[in-house]
Parts: sequence; structure tokens; C-alpha cells
Amino acid sequence: MDWKSQIDKSKLPKHVAVIMDGNGRWAKEHGMPRVFGHRSGVKAVRETAEAAAEIGVEYVTLYAFSTENWNRPKFEVDALMTLLVSTLRGEIRTLNKNNIRLEAIGDLKNLPSKCYKELTEAIEKTKQNTRMTLVLALNYSGRWEITNAVKQIAAEVKAGNIDEAEINNELVNKHLTTSNMPDPELLIRTSGESRVSNFLLWQIAYSELLFIDKYWPDFRKSDLNEAVATYQKRERRFGKTSDQLK
Ligand code: FPP
Repeated sequence: MDWKSQIDKSKLPKHVAVIMDGNGRWAKEHGMPRVFGHRSGVKAVRETAEAAAEIGVEYVTLYAFSTENWNRPKFEVDALMTLLVSTLRGEIRTLNKNNIRLEAIGDLKNLPSKCYKELTEAIEKTKQNTRMTLVLALNYSGRWEITNAVKQIAAEVKAGNIDEAEINNELVNKHLTTSNMPDPELLIRTSGESRVSNFLLWQIAYSELLFIDKYWPDFRKSDLNEAVATYQKRERRFGKTSDQLK
């Protein structure tokens, strides 16, 4: 099926978020170590970014490393950080060629210094690009982000800069790492697992969730296109009734 031709350009999601899951199981099925699965996942990252840019999505956010992922074996954590550094270094040219800007959300300063340096460099070198923003969620979790926002707002109230009565959705949004982006209309998770694993908890309040039965290293452009076409068939009611939308 040519999913790309099924996509209605007037109803595109502006922001697609992705939980890239199943690298370890994919590797196991291929009789390889888990790290091989992560390495093979880079191709899927490339395909996703290119497919999203081709159809006109404005933001793609990828869950690359959660605050809980530090609990994995040290060998795997080190391999993921090394992979991140080498991928960032290798992809800057392609990002610039495709006019894609790189951004990152999460507790970035607490990443290994080499990783943080490479990341900030890649962000700096692609900041002029305008076609799409590729956001890496690194050392990120939704609860970490919301807790931070609460702390910042509490400090502002304490300092007398804002009144408690002024705290609303918009103000909370402003204190999130995604304050400059629209909420994702579509959240994709690969590998057949049906959970959100602490990803963008505030922002996905009204997102359409799509769980795909494929491991991340097998995810291709046509899967992204199919996901968008499927999203477009959903009725988004935002708490209203179906009749009210007509
Ligand atoms: C989840 O699969 C995947 C991750 C925790 C890491 C995602 C990282 C990549 C795809 C590598 C490249 C990414 C960038 C942006 C350079 P899993 O290990 O939880 O798989 P499993 O559930 O089968 O064990």
C-alpha cells in the first residue's frame, strides 16, 4: 500500500512523538547482542525524520533515553551514549542537507560531558534550519519535567512574581521543556507494548496513541506514513460529543 498518497495534507499532525521500543528484542531475534539492536535503530531514526519532513510534519520528538534508562547495565548505558555521540557527529550534514533543526529536551546537563558537548554542538550547527525540528528526549521523563515546572512556579509565587490565582494550563505549559512546541497530536510506540512509560505525560493529554507491532529497527518511512494516515481517520473529540463536531 502506498500510504503516502493516502495522507491528507490539510490534516497533518504538527507534532509526532515516538517511543522507539524493541531494539533489544529485535537483536535477540537476530541472535545478536542488545547493543546491535540500538545501532540498527539509527536507520529507523533517519527514515522517520525524513518521512516526517517529506510530508510536512513540523516536529518529531523521539524518546531516546529516559531518566530510568540509567538503571540498565553499565555496558548498555555506555554503548547508548557512545552511539548517540557518533550518530550526532555523523548526521549533522544530513540534517543540514534536509533543512532539519535538531533540538533536545530532558535533564541534558547531567548527560556525560562528551555527550552534552556533542549535542549542543549539533543543535548549534543546525539551528538555522526551518523545514522541521527533530527533538531528542534525552535523560528525560514526564514526571521529572512536571516536578521541575512545579518547583519553578512555586519559586515564582514565593518571590511574589506571580499570584497563585494566575496558575493555569498555559502557565504550566510555559515551564515545560516543550514550551515552544505544539502538543503532539500523535504518539507512536513500536514493539507491541501499550504504555506511555513516563513520556510527555502532560503534553499527550489529547494525543492519539498508536501502538505498532514492529520492533523499532524495522520501522520504515511507510510505517510513519501509515501511522499518519491512521491518525487522520480518528475522530478527535476533545471531550465533546460526536454530534457537536459535525
Ligand atoms: C528501546 O528499546 C530503545 C532505547 C532505550 C534507545 C533508543 C535508541 C536508539 C534507537 C538509538 C539511536 C538513537 C539516536 C537518537 C541516536 P529497548 O532496548 O527497550 O528494547 P527491548 O524492550 O526489546 O529490550
